Formats: sequence, structure tokens, C-alpha cells
Amino acid sequence: MALFKYEHIGTHTHLYIWKIEEEFDDLFDEIHLTDMNMIRLMSMKSVQHQRGFLSVRKLFQAAGYTDFDVTYDATGKPHLNDGHHISISHSHGFSAIMISDTTVGIDLELMREKIIRIADKFTSEEEEKYLDASDDNYVKILTVLWGVKESIFKIRNEIGISFKDHITTFAFDINSGIAHARLDFEDIHRHFEVKFQTIEDHMLVYAFETANEKAL
Ligand SMILES: CC(C)(COP(=O)(O)OP(=O)(O)OC[C@H]1O[C@@H](n2cnc3c(N)ncnc32)[C@H](O)[C@@H]1OP(=O)(O)O)[C@@H](O)C(=O)NCCC(=O)NCCS
Repeated sequence: MALFKYEHIGTHTHLYIWKIEEEFDDLFDEIHLTDMNMIRLMSMKSVQHQRGFLSVRKLFQAAGYTDFDVTYDATGKPHLNDGHHISISHSHGFSAIMISDTTVGIDLELMREKIIRIADKFTSEEEEKYLDASDDNYVKILTVLWGVKESIFKIRNEIGISFKDHITTFAFDINSGIAHARLDFEDIHRHFEVKFQTIEDHMLVYAFETANEKAL
């Protein structure tokens, strides 16, 4: 597969999505990895994870970067050497990267019924007030909520953030593709604008930090 989707969002943000259909060797032959990432790749336990990791390097290429332009900090957060912000996600059949002038977080999740079983572990009290388990879109809505929390965590990856206690998404229309969320963790209080869309059987979510509360 070539690039599955590219979107130019706002003025300074680029979204790239890869549909992972290639075998390991086909991807590996086209990628030049740093020594550190070669070690990492070889230590991954599943071929699926390896293919996801390699497909992200194909997305770097599509965006005009190589593996040598990206470094990871001690928390595992990726950084581009030219100062742009980057966020990465890979899940089953797809991978995605977002590159921007501003901080961004992205998450791709396969939509699965089993998210219902863990919902109470990550949904906040405020979210529980509007969640309705009988809604036909319940799995979809929960997957958006999960993606919101992963995306926000990727932006503000402070140790100790709890998805359930510190991140809340305000009630939203599942057909709108837009939501707003808040992070309250110790003395950090931030608001985020979130966009979401389905990519076949996956939910893609990405978040931007906003300057004030109005977006709510
Ligand atoms: C780190 C974390 C955000 C990764 O998310 P994930 O859904 O497992 O996997 P994704 O494919 O979406 O994202 C993985 C990518 O996130 C990026 N990433 C890893 N750690 C990161 C961090 N601390 N900050 C920002 N980005 C990070 C990496 O680029 C990674 O891919 P790569 O290493 O192959 O480049 C997630 O595992 C995590 O730790 N979440 C917070 C912990 C938590 O509270 N969990 C659930 C509580 S109910």
C-alpha cells in the first residue's frame, strides 16, 4: 500500500495515515533505521508491532523525514529534530503520524466490543453522566473517549495522569467529529479541542491544546 490518506489540517498541521498491508520484509527493505531503532525493532515480540513501527517510517518518508530526524525522550515521546511537533500511533491495520507547528497528540484504535468491559476504568464521573450503554454507538463513543485520553496524554505526558480522574471529555455529538476535553492534574488545568473520524474499523482521534475555556 502507498500512503492511505493525507490531510492538511488548519494551516500548519499535516496528518498522514498508512494502511499496513505489506509483509515485514517489504517494509524493512525500504527503510533505513538508526542503530537504536534497529535494536528496538529486533526486540519487538510481534511481527504486527514490527510492521506498525516500520510503516511509521514510511510515513516519515511521505512527510519528507527519515528515522534519523526523530529522537525519543526518556518517556518514549518522539521529537522531530527540526523543532516541529510530532505524534505517532499504530494499531492493527493502520498507522498515523501528525506533524505540526503546535503540540498535537494522535491515537488510532480498533473499535472493539471489549472496550465496554474496561469502560469504568477510564471514564470519568462527568462522562458517566452522559454515557448510555444502550446507545447503538456506545462502542464508538467509548473508543473516542479512550482516544481523547491517549491523545491528551501524548501531549502532556506528566507521570501520574489518570485517564479516569484527570481527563474529561464534554458531552459531544458522535456524528460531529468534534469534541472538547479538559485535563485537571495537580496544578495543571488545560483545555483541548479534539477531532475524530472513523478509518474503516478504526477510530482516529487527535487533540490540540487550546488557549482558553471557550472552545467548550
Ligand atoms: C504511551 C502510550 C500513550 C502509547 O499509546 P498506545 O495506544 O499504547 O500506542 P500508540 O500506537 O497509540 O502510540 C504509540 C506511540 O506513542 C508515542 N509515545 C510513547 N510514549 C509517549 C509519551 N510518553 N508521550 C507521547 N508520545 C508517546 C510513541 O511514538 C509510540 O510509538 P513508537 O514508539 O513506535 O514511535 C500509552 O501506552 C500510555 O502509556 N498511556 C498512558 C498510561 C495510561 O494511563 N493508561 C491507561 C490508564 S486506564
